[in-house]
Amino acid sequence: MIVARLLISVVCSAQNMVANPENVYLQISDRPAWDLLEKLHRIAPMLAHCTIREACGWPPHPHAELFVNWAKTNVHQFAPLVEIDLQGPDTTWLDCSVGSADLGNYVDIADAQRLHRRIVETMEAAQAKVGIGRYNEARPFYTTNAFAVEGNQGPEWRSIHIGLDVFMPAGTPVFAPWDGVVHSFQDNAADRDYGPTIILQHNVSPELTFYTLYGHLSRTSLEGLYLGKPIAKGERLCWMGPMPENGNWSPHLHFQVMLDMLDLAGDFPGVAFPDKRAVWTGICPDPWYLIAGRISPSAPTIAVDEIMAKRSKLLSPNLSISYTQPLYIQRGVGAYLYDHTGRRYLDTVNNVAHVGHEHPRVVGAGQRQMAVLNTNTRYVHHQITQFAEALLATAPEPLEVAFFVNSGSEANELALRLAKTYTNQQDIIALQVGYHGNTNACVEISSYKFDGPGGKGASPRVHVVPLPDTYRGLYRGNTPESAQRYAQYVNEILEHLHIQGRRPAAFVAETIVSCGGQIPLPPGYLQQVYASVRAAGGLCIADEVQTGCGRPGECFWAFEAQGVVPDIVTIGKPIGNGHPLGAVLCTRAVADAFANGMEYFNTFGGNPVSCAIGMEVLKVIKEEGLQENALAVGNSLKQGLADLAQRFPQIGDVRGSGLFLGIELVHDPIAKQPAASIADYIANRMRALGILMSTDGPDHNVLKIKPPMVFGKIQADFLLGTLERVLKEDGAVFKVRTTPK
Ligand SMILES: Cc1ncc(COP(=O)(O)O)c(C=O)c1O
Repeated sequence: MIVARLLISVVCSAQNMVANPENVYLQISDRPAWDLLEKLHRIAPMLAHCTIREACGWPPHPHAELFVNWAKTNVHQFAPLVEIDLQGPDTTWLDCSVGSADLGNYVDIADAQRLHRRIVETMEAAQAKVGIGRYNEARPFYTTNAFAVEGNQGPEWRSIHIGLDVFMPAGTPVFAPWDGVVHSFQDNAADRDYGPTIILQHNVSPELTFYTLYGHLSRTSLEGLYLGKPIAKGERLCWMGPMPENGNWSPHLHFQVMLDMLDLAGDFPGVAFPDKRAVWTGICPDPWYLIAGRISPSAPTIAVDEIMAKRSKLLSPNLSISYTQPLYIQRGVGAYLYDHTGRRYLDTVNNVAHVGHEHPRVVGAGQRQMAVLNTNTRYVHHQITQFAEALLATAPEPLEVAFFVNSGSEANELALRLAKTYTNQQDIIALQVGYHGNTNACVEISSYKFDGPGGKGASPRVHVVPLPDTYRGLYRGNTPESAQRYAQYVNEILEHLHIQGRRPAAFVAETIVSCGGQIPLPPGYLQQVYASVRAAGGLCIADEVQTGCGRPGECFWAFEAQGVVPDIVTIGKPIGNGHPLGAVLCTRAVADAFANGMEYFNTFGGNPVSCAIGMEVLKVIKEEGLQENALAVGNSLKQGLADLAQRFPQIGDVRGSGLFLGIELVHDPIAKQPAASIADYIANRMRALGILMSTDGPDHNVLKIKPPMVFGKIQADFLLGTLERVLKEDGAVFKVRTTPK
């Protein structure tokens, strides 16, 4: 009916063209109608039919029930597919799902040997001769750039497996389960990844025809075949192909059933897009019906809704969750995260996965040490001293002593103890909107928390100075003058303390204030503040929990860009690449003052596994040139964002360095009224288009960019292109135009 309606449109246009050639308006729907007709023409009518049935809540294919009933009735007549009983003790079901621990961190099909080894090992561990890969399983295999298809919502990947895989050695013969004729066969090896394929057609009754597909075969399987060749049930049809003949997969048979060929000839897909899952599994029913007459055992999966319900029942309500439609992330690789449907997202937020999600070298280092020993620092072990030496080598003198802890909060907690012990003072000076962790003492110095929702304001021993925001703060312009004016606030506090006969224990700050909205301190700020604080007897703590380990690009630690050396540096997130690891670096004098007789014991801090992981992170940063990458990619990304800012007035400011950037959204570049709604809109649209971003800053109007450091030019270009696309969309523009100045 849609096509008929469109045809009427184009016929009317054609008539009008003859009758009223001067009336352009009468042609207005001609081009779009042809475009849509051409698009619809490429869709098999049966696929449209099944899609519409599914949308109506019906079984997508009208013969689905017929097939199931036929299979159930005839199950005892089926010839076995292979010589081993697939329902017997020699068979194990494999987990090839997105979150499969059996797969390890394998996802790239280019690394076929590794997948093969993992499959063989899993089968060996189960003492099985056959491994079966599941039907209707979301898989991570086809999610590299090479397999991306541009959809309405950004790149899409076919990730839902709609056949069954039977993993057995190459050369294993495969038999036809039922009488049929050869419908098609082709050798896809040269240009496809699924090797030679055969499709049989089975006309089992006047009402029911179905097809069976055999993929990843040996090339010899195609010899002697011709279209229409009759194949009797139980006849040897083909052999499982060796790698790379079979498309370079671990040897197996891909076995699939189709109720319709959808005009696709022999080139029928074996995987489907996740949002079309119901339609495609409706057209391609569970092949286990042809083996056991019933559906195959499905993997024990838990639905997102169920997890959410359990979260709210079992966990504290103040654990927040990102996005209105929560993400169930099951796998991380490099700069990407994968949800449970196999959808890949570019991660621009997780600076914890510093050298890339689940970096194989870091994972390996942890696994190796974990298998041998994990104890505490009361025994001598080389891992801790090697790691301490390597970490301290990244810091300037006189930072020469390391403590190891388990988180950024714990690092800051210890830093506060160190400073208070060294100075024998209690007062701390911290930045407005600063965040330093979740413990008692850390929340007490975190204006982001005590001045935010649920907070009770600063305690008497904590003194907050204005955030040196040179874009929208008290003093504007990223200049030494602004720095001087902001630094003056610290002097006022020092004076105030002096009058009361007190001295500061410490000044604590990040160099690019993350929760403040990715605010870089103006040039010279820390030099002036550190000098004043030290003159008053206090120590200076640099919180590098977010910014450290090469992220700023131009330097390894962000404080270096300010030309200062702190007395204490706290390190967290990146150093463990996801493993709970933190560290504190300090001067000898600070460490000695702390060693006042009270033992510092930390059960987990400095354990050999954590140290092996931290050590590997440092090596990877160096050997993969990640600091240099942060500088190069960060600079060009920042330039690209600045170019966008020229064209889109919603982008008020682009700032930061290396791969620690912020984009401040405003309703109007002059009034600089913060535009949280636009920032939120963009973050949600970017997520829909396959990019994870999040907002920060006291007004929630800053998009922060702090991706894994393996974020390269390809990723930066994708980010810029998608951001431009979103900014051009009505939603963002509309919001700007309707907001009063
Ligand atoms: C600047 C800064 N310091 C400290 C912390 C606390 O680190 P953790 O969450 O590992 O305890 C955070 C955490 O977000 C942070 O951003």
